[in-house]
Amino acid sequence: MLLSDKPKFYGRRKGRKIRKAKSGLLERFLPNLLIPQSAPVSKNIFGTPVKEVWLEIGFGNGEHIAYQSLNHPDIGFIGAEVFKNGIANLLSLITGIKENSAMPDEIKLLSPRTDNLRIWADDVRLLFSQIPDGFLSKIFLLFPDPWPKKRHASRRFINPDNLKELARILKKGGTLRIATDHPVYKSWTLRQMHADSNFRWTAKTGNDWRNPPPDWVETKYQRKAVLEGRRPIFLDFERL
Ligand SMILES: C[S@@+](CC[C@H](N)C(=O)[O-])C[C@H]1O[C@@H](n2cnc3c(N)ncnc32)[C@H](O)[C@@H]1O
Repeated sequence: MLLSDKPKFYGRRKGRKIRKAKSGLLERFLPNLLIPQSAPVSKNIFGTPVKEVWLEIGFGNGEHIAYQSLNHPDIGFIGAEVFKNGIANLLSLITGIKENSAMPDEIKLLSPRTDNLRIWADDVRLLFSQIPDGFLSKIFLLFPDPWPKKRHASRRFINPDNLKELARILKKGGTLRIATDHPVYKSWTLRQMHADSNFRWTAKTGNDWRNPPPDWVETKYQRKAVLEGRRPIFLDFERL
């Protein structure tokens, strides 16, 4: 890819200074989990045999992917996130090493985790071309940045170009789960998804999208939204 082809990323890549053990995790443990650049992604990138592979786009502080990967030891998880502090937090969750912990000589996954999680520490759009057609069984896009102003609409992750790629890499019958708390993004997402014949919204009653699905863990972002009076919705789409 030429440098000029690189999609522009508008979010934050770094927040407050990452200190002590968390920066040690980024330096010493992250390289073990990084997805190699330029090679096609396969089930062999994981350190354990996996039945299928799920992707989480923009995992934030990593609460959801840490929880899912612990509960599904035989599924391979790919987490994509640009925000360094969030990546450091995910590493902390899966190793149990906290900001003020002493760094052990050898960094290990917390027991009983399996080695089923890999990280793409950059814009997920740069990973798409490495993922084969129909490779993924589930894709999570949880609380994507809403970019509510009309003039920023082109920055919203749900858009026809990205949906085309998501439809290509998600296998038929697979699930795309989108959660959002923002009124503008809610109607935007429903409109975009309705216009895309590759996906079918699976909700049958209001409870299916007003309540979190059973395999759900609340994220920091979601807690903040609820505290600020915004009600999240949870949308599952089947790849047709
Ligand atoms: C509003 S936060 C939500 C985080 C998390 N999903 C949660 O529920 O707490 C959106 C996250 O998506 C990440 N993000 C946005 N666009 C991305 C992209 N193209 N590739 C990877 N991560 C992205 C941002 O860095 C940010 O951490």
